[in-house]
Amino acid sequence: MTKKTCIIFGVSGIVGRNLAEHLVGRGDWKVIGVSRHRPPDLNGIEHRSCDLNDPDDVKQALRDLGPISCAFYATWSRQANEHANCLSNGAMFRKSRRFIPVLSGLLQS
Ligand SMILES: NC(=O)c1ccc[n+]([C@@H]2O[C@H](COP(=O)([O-])OP(=O)(O)OC[C@H]3O[C@@H](n4cnc5c(N)ncnc54)[C@H](OP(=O)(O)O)[C@@H]3O)[C@@H](O)[C@H]2O)c1
Repeated sequence: MTKKTCIIFGVSGIVGRNLAEHLVGRGDWKVIGVSRHRPPDLNGIEHRSCDLNDPDDVKQALRDLGPISCAFYATWSRQANEHANCLSNGAMFRKSRRFIPVLSGLLQS
């Protein structure tokens, strides 16, 4: 079976990990997961470590990616209050938009 490939940002978190395990369990997806820390027991999932707030780190982590079918953004960093949540996570998402062209160049239908 030819597998489609996806990349999941936030793969060590609740949403990202469950999504990754669901897709791997289907058998028709290759999953590349991204987070700063490699979670334990990440069976069947290729992991790449980087800090999304560090563009050079992201560039290094995403090098040599082959074609992908889709990307999921499930990254989240809890702060002291909701205002700080919005500021911090908004800033991280805006920084992350920089690598969208890189991912778009790899997208296949
Ligand atoms: N609006 C809200 O109140 C709210 C609350 C919770 C979640 N959410 C949304 O729900 C989704 C995920 O939630 P969740 O409960 O699964 O979150 P979670 O369990 O806290 O997981 C967060 C993920 O983001 C990664 N991450 C955090 N900072 C990072 C950084 N600087 N660079 C790279 N990776 C980073 C973490 O991995 P590492 O720590 O290993 O890097 C982890 O994999 C997100 O889309 C989030 O916006 C919204």
